[in-house]
Amino acid sequence: MKFFIDTANLEDIREAKSLGILDGVTTNPSLMAKEGITGQDNIYKHYKTICELVPGDVSAEVISTDFEGMIREGKALSEIAPNIVVKVPMIKEGVKALKWFSENDIKTNCTLVFSAGQAILAAKAGATYLSPFIGRIDDIAWDGIALIEEIAEIYAIQGYETEILAASIRHTLHIVDAARAGADVITSPLKPLMGLLNHPLTDVGLSKFLADHKAAEAK
Ligand code: E4P
Repeated sequence: MKFFIDTANLEDIREAKSLGILDGVTTNPSLMAKEGITGQDNIYKHYKTICELVPGDVSAEVISTDFEGMIREGKALSEIAPNIVVKVPMIKEGVKALKWFSENDIKTNCTLVFSAGQAILAAKAGATYLSPFIGRIDDIAWDGIALIEEIAEIYAIQGYETEILAASIRHTLHIVDAARAGADVITSPLKPLMGLLNHPLTDVGLSKFLADHKAAEAK
């Protein structure tokens, strides 16, 4: 399973990269706005910086909602760096754009996915990645992880090559459960990612090892 970080914050990206297990980055317009990055030039410059920092796939989202606008934007985004993946919303015009990008060898990430039906459409259109939003599904008392399982089963039966990218991750257990449910990729903010490290018995055990070593050396 690939590990992407879900942020436009350069410090968080550097921190995750320093672990040595980072495969890529996802962003969205809200995450860019959160970093205070506005205006097309600055936004594109920021994508370039992220792409130079992380050699893996970097998702950059279109803000157009019509086919022509998505194609225009997607082409411009894909020229920023070879590792840009064009993020396209799961709407009618988006499905048409996913098909066009797939026929023109431009990688895509289909975003705002909340159902198995949408997942089938995106795979048929040739999306590279599919982003089901598990946290937002849990927020309305449905089961985000169950959706990952359902999509993984359908994709395996049908032989679809689209990679399932579990998005909208809110806590560390989402990462573990997404791995078990068959996600090909998770994209997580820094905190849940780093939470994978934690276990009190590791801390207790390490303290004991170091204390025993120190005591033996002092004899
Ligand atoms: C990333 O691809 C998605 O845009 C992101 O994970 C959404 O996360 P949120 O539901 O926490 O905003």
